Parts: sequence; structure tokens; C-alpha cells
Amino acid sequence: MPDAQGKIRYAVVGGGWISQGAFMPGVAQTRNSVMTALVTGDPIKADRLAQKYGLKSYAYEEFDTLLKSGEIDAVYVATPNFRHREFAEPALLAGIHVLLEKPMAASEEDCLAINAAARQSGAKLMIAYRLHCEPGTVEMVDRVRRGDIGDVRLFSSVFSQVTKPSNHRMQSGFWAGPATDMGPYPLNAVRNLFASEPVQVHAVATQTPGRPVNTPDTVNVTLRFPEERLATFTVSYSLPATERFQVIGDKGEFEASPCFGFGEGVGIAYRATLDGKTQEHKHPVVDHFGGETEYFSDCILNDRAPEPDGEEGWRDVRVLAAIERALSTGQAQRLEPLPSRRGIQRDQARSLPLAKVPDYVNTSQPNG
Ligand SMILES: NC(=O)c1ccc[n+]([C@@H]2O[C@H](COP(=O)([O-])OP(=O)(O)OC[C@H]3O[C@@H](n4cnc5c(N)ncnc54)[C@H](OP(=O)(O)O)[C@@H]3O)[C@@H](O)[C@H]2O)c1
Repeated sequence: MPDAQGKIRYAVVGGGWISQGAFMPGVAQTRNSVMTALVTGDPIKADRLAQKYGLKSYAYEEFDTLLKSGEIDAVYVATPNFRHREFAEPALLAGIHVLLEKPMAASEEDCLAINAAARQSGAKLMIAYRLHCEPGTVEMVDRVRRGDIGDVRLFSSVFSQVTKPSNHRMQSGFWAGPATDMGPYPLNAVRNLFASEPVQVHAVATQTPGRPVNTPDTVNVTLRFPEERLATFTVSYSLPATERFQVIGDKGEFEASPCFGFGEGVGIAYRATLDGKTQEHKHPVVDHFGGETEYFSDCILNDRAPEPDGEEGWRDVRVLAAIERALSTGQAQRLEPLPSRRGIQRDQARSLPLAKVPDYVNTSQPNG
């Protein structure tokens, strides 16, 4: 049940960088969502963030009490990846809707358990693929699917940032490393652009000398898709920030940059080259987190299935798990062919003005 104004009431689980810097301010940009609770292990956040946003604070150990409290309709889960299932599964089983950060979980087994919980209760589950509601991304996917660049054959991408040694991402192995943290952006993009699922996965990784990370800090992945389509992407925790992709069809190409980021000054942009003519498309800066939250709350209020659901999340994690196996064995990995999905739709796009980033409480950017 929404609150008295008809808004979906959210609890935020994990008060880290993305919660404080993006989700929490983004909620206020929506018409249909409000925050009522915070789940945190940090007493200072429990006090200061709760005061700032007028929330009730809960410790992680009190999560079940929150689920039964009647104070929330949904949770936004933004803990490190290895804890996603711990909060998503019981919330769904309790009939609480879940907006779950990417990657969906740190194993396929966890994804399948989360999806089973959603099926069991009927509560809605959306993976927080904010770009599925960003107008520039929606436009590119729609144009490619309508055949604007012809038969789409090739995708390549580079996405990098210098991650601080103190960030948990640097010390928590493969499932917090660049392949699983940054890889979902190019991977999810190409799956949606090709409207198809990879059938073969190759991966090569390097460890930059002097970088104190306990998993390879730079990973290159090549994916073979049905009908001889090819995609390659490189993600890194140790190279200056850059983000771009190129998608090429037999009639033209789109070259996008910025294409994965968000925030002040980041308007998704792409250059379309068709019939030898190049045209720039720069989209306005919008609040990605407000947009995805408004879309998810709309789905809850109107009893519609969210598009980036648990199946979408698992399909990415299935490839991430194959990348892990490819790296550990040095062998290409085969994946079972899967039918294509309906994918990103134009009516998902939301253009909410960007919220101001507030001062952080006991947290900082991974690269800040
Ligand atoms: N969609 C996007 O654009 C985007 C961007 C960045 C990150 N993400 C995803 O969001 C999730 C969180 O990322 P983040 O950058 O916000 O990470 P972060 O800054 O490290 O925050 C994670 C928070 O989780 C809580 N936590 C619970 N158990 C923890 C543990 N064992 N170790 C460390 N923290 C723990 C902490 O909050 P308390 O102190 O409140 O307990 C911590 O501040 C990840 O799944 C990530 O992939 C998505």
C-alpha cells in the first residue's frame, strides 16, 4: 500500500556512495516515490542521514522487523554485491518490492533464488539498470532495433576508472572487481543493442604493476553472438576515467560517449554515421536514479511487470560467471542459446531534472 499521497515508500539498504550520492537525492525528483527508512550498520549514518531525510533507521539485524513494520512498500538494495541476496530474497518473500542494484548478485545461484522468491510472493523485482530509463540510451537501442544502422554486426567498448585502494571493490575478489562492477554496462548495452544473447565467452585479464587489488584490475572480454555477431569490451580499475562504445551495422554506426556515467555535466551522447553523413545527438543531463525509481514505482502502482527484471539481471550474471570461468581456465566458455527478450521500450524513458549531490556522511566515491 502506498502512503497517503499515493507514493511508494522505500527503505534504503546500505548507505554507501551510490545511495547517498544518487538514489537518496533522486527520490525527491519523482512524483510517486518517497523514502521512509534506512538500513545501515553505521550509527553515524543512522543518525545523520535519518535526520536529514526524515527516516527511521534500522540495523541490518533488524531487517526482518522492518519488513513486517508496515512502514515500507519497497526496498532499494545498494550493499556490496555479495550481500544482495541476503536482503533481496527475504524482502520479496515478505511481499516487499525490490529495486536491486547491479550486478543482480554474486552468483547465478543467488540470482535464481531471488527470482524464485519474487515468483513465490508476486512482489515486483527490478534490477537498477538506470540506463534503461535514460532517454539517450532508450533512443539508441530503439533506433538500432528499428534497423537504422542496418544489420548490426559489431560492438566494442572501453570503460575505466582509477579505483581507490581503500574501496572494498579492490579487496573483494572477482565478484567486486571490474568485470562484475563495470562489465555490466557494456554487457547489458550489447545484449540490448543486438537483441540477442552471447553463446561463447573469451576473457583475458592483466594486473597492473603496483596496483593493490586482489583480482585482475583490467579485463578484456570477447563475446560471440548467434549469426556471427561479435562484441568486445575492456573494463579497468587502473586507467584514467573513460567510457565509450561503438556499434556497427552494415549501413552505419553509432559511437557513444559518455554512454554509461551519470551526474553533473553527463548527458548521454552519440554520433550517428549513416550513408557517409555524421550527426551528433547530445541528450540533456537527467536524473538517472530519479528516473528509474519513478518507472519502478509506476510499475508497482499500475501492477505492470518492470522491464529490467530478475531474468534480465540473471542473463548478465550468467555471462559474468562465464567470464570468471574463462579467466580461471584460460578456455573459451560456451553458453546455452537463449531466446531474445522484448528489451528496453521507449515508454520507459524518464527526463527528471538532476538533483544536487548532498554532502556525504562517512562515505566517498570509489574513485574520489
Ligand atoms: N547503478 C549505478 O550507477 C551504480 C553505481 C555504483 C554502484 N552501484 C552498485 O551499488 C552497490 C553499492 O555500491 P556503492 O558504490 O554504493 O558501494 P559503497 O560506497 O562501498 O557502499 C556500500 C554500502 O553497503 C553497506 N555495507 C553492508 N555490508 C558491507 C560490507 N561488508 N562491506 C562494505 N559495505 C557494506 C555500507 O553501508 P552502511 O555503512 O550504511 O552499512 C556501505 O557504505 C553495488 O552493488 C554496486 O555495484 C551501482
